[in-house]
Amino acid sequence: MDQSGAARSDGSTALFDPDDSVAEAQDIGPTGRPWPVLPEPAPPAPGRKRAEIIAMCNQKGGVGKTTTTINLGAALVETGRKVLLVDLDPQGSLSVGLGVNPHTLELSIYNLLLGKGVDVDDVIAGSPVEGMDILPSNIDLSAAEIQLVSEVARELTLSRVLESLRDRYDVILVDCAPSLGLLTVNALTAADSVVIPLECEFFALRGVALLTDTIAKVQDRLNPRLKVLGLVGTMYDSRTLHAREVLQTVVDAFGDQVFHSVIRRTVKFPETTVAGEPITTYASSSPGAAAYRSLAREVLARLGA
Ligand SMILES: Nc1ncnc2c1ncn2[C@@H]1O[C@H](COP(=O)(O)OP(=O)(O)OP(=O)(O)O)[C@@H](O)[C@H]1O
Ligand SMILES: [Mg+2]
Repeated sequence: MDQSGAARSDGSTALFDPDDSVAEAQDIGPTGRPWPVLPEPAPPAPGRKRAEIIAMCNQKGGVGKTTTTINLGAALVETGRKVLLVDLDPQGSLSVGLGVNPHTLELSIYNLLLGKGVDVDDVIAGSPVEGMDILPSNIDLSAAEIQLVSEVARELTLSRVLESLRDRYDVILVDCAPSLGLLTVNALTAADSVVIPLECEFFALRGVALLTDTIAKVQDRLNPRLKVLGLVGTMYDSRTLHAREVLQTVVDAFGDQVFHSVIRRTVKFPETTVAGEPITTYASSSPGAAAYRSLAREVLARLGA
């Protein structure tokens, strides 16, 4: 049996939460809907690559954007995809979470956005996961928000950088800062789709209307192909009625846009940051790793990949 689901006789797999035997027995997931049956992800099609660019976006801080970027990326690598993670947050948490020392970083995404004649290959770094590269950042990027304002086509700056990389990767995940400023608008303009992580607590939906408004404006004015790929519940504690109620509210508001896979609250995630590696390698058989594998499967199904 694979960790992300229950094998069926036809070779397909029903996603289930490995931590929740009740849900498994009833085939009802934590979002209150039956688990979908999804096929084993096929390896990427041979031939020239054309990466899907996905922005992880929520202007609310600490909702699991960076954790989801790193671990979804690593889970996608396990399906044979080549993945690039872009750290578009001056806090540099994604870079630190993959073992980059922000103080010794000479070239970062900042130099690609604002430097002239900087070669992208001098900025791309490897990660502890083979098949997953990163465009790191550090505090230098905080100046970009202001410096970009005076640039021509300032919203398209990241798009220009990432378009040149599409043929090298299958998926590019952009980890946004907790803001709806110019850097996030750049991410939404470069992206094909957005994933919105939501912490399963009372204020989860606060600010989501503002986010969906911003997405609609970007669709209208800058990037008509942009779509919301889905919302994912994070830091879910199934033992509390509260978390279950919050998740239900999210499903009531967003229906099938909500991913069936839900990420539980576990101390393993903060531990992975200290270890500088994703949960899929740090604790490969943990429920947290299984949850991100399950999310990866849903993401690929929604992308039609
Ligand atoms: N499922 C989880 N269970 C427990 N802790 C988690 C979980 N997901 C994330 N965390 C922890 O919560 C904190 C915030 O997570 P993360 O950095 O991913 O959020 P973020 O949305 O990227 O934050 P920011 O808005 O500051 O960029 C981190 O310390 C992380 O280790
Ligand atoms: Mg973050």
